[in-house]
Amino acid sequence: INNYEYIQTSIEGRIGMIALNRPDVLNALNRTMVVEILSAMESFDQDESIRVIILSGNGRAFAAGADIEEMSADGPIDFELLNQFKNWDRIASIKKPIIAVVQGFALGGGFELALCCDLIFAADDATFGFPEVNLGVMPGAGGTQRLTKLVGKTKAMEWLFTGKRITANEALQFGIINSIFAKEILIEEALKAGGMIASQAPLSIRFIKEAVLKAVDTPLEEGMHFERKNFYLLFSSEDQKEGMRAFIEKRNPDFKGR
Ligand code: CAA
Repeated sequence: INNYEYIQTSIEGRIGMIALNRPDVLNALNRTMVVEILSAMESFDQDESIRVIILSGNGRAFAAGADIEEMSADGPIDFELLNQFKNWDRIASIKKPIIAVVQGFALGGGFELALCCDLIFAADDATFGFPEVNLGVMPGAGGTQRLTKLVGKTKAMEWLFTGKRITANEALQFGIINSIFAKEILIEEALKAGGMIASQAPLSIRFIKEAVLKAVDTPLEEGMHFERKNFYLLFSSEDQKEGMRAFIEKRNPDFKGR
């Protein structure tokens, strides 16, 4: 299945792995690469044997941003006609849980890509930031929105105005990432966490992801209503019967994702 030009995919048990692979330019995200990431994610999303997706970089970077060279000569009409960010929206609407594994630079579009994921595991050398301001532009794939919803206006303004680098420790302190690990064990730890999530009832994970993302954008009452419908819906699944039966019979559940 691996005939991509700028990414590599593999499968580890029930985890679909996507590794960005354009190391000579620090995994700068050109348009073909974004199409490939989306295509790999959508095929894992459709594959019932896959329960979790891990997205990683390599070498010195997760990704140092959108490909500056590719877009430098573009004008607004080019972006409009390309509908430049539609693929990013589709990445953000993948249903299965996605863990971003970040080592080195996660800048601009690279940071935005990580923010589209559900969990972020970082190496101690990870650095995040939005340097677009230094290029005379601004983030376009959700940076001003997702970062602000995550950390609030105060730090978002500071980081977006200055393009300042955010260390892994700061990112942890502000709730941008979940955990920091030494580079050597980072992917192992992500696989461990991914394996744990993969052993849970897939429909529970699916509807939890949907409901949490809903909470980011919705007034409480509407979000509560949404949560309740998902809660009710899970009682039509075989896994709910299996999970509760297993509890009563004092054994481990065997979840099927149905
Ligand atoms: N686009 C295209 N090429 C890039 C790139 C990018 N975003 N980031 C790095 N590269 C290339 C460099 O041009 C260089 O290529 P050559 O070897 O052919 O010269 C190679 O990657 C290695 O980079 P450096 O030599 O610059 O490495 P460094 O260690 O000196 O610096 C860095 C590392 C600080 C990350 C620096 O590369 C850098 O500032 N990169 C750009 C970061 C940036 O501005 N990102 C935002 C892009 S705009 C965006 O993402 C918009 C959006 O919202 C979608």
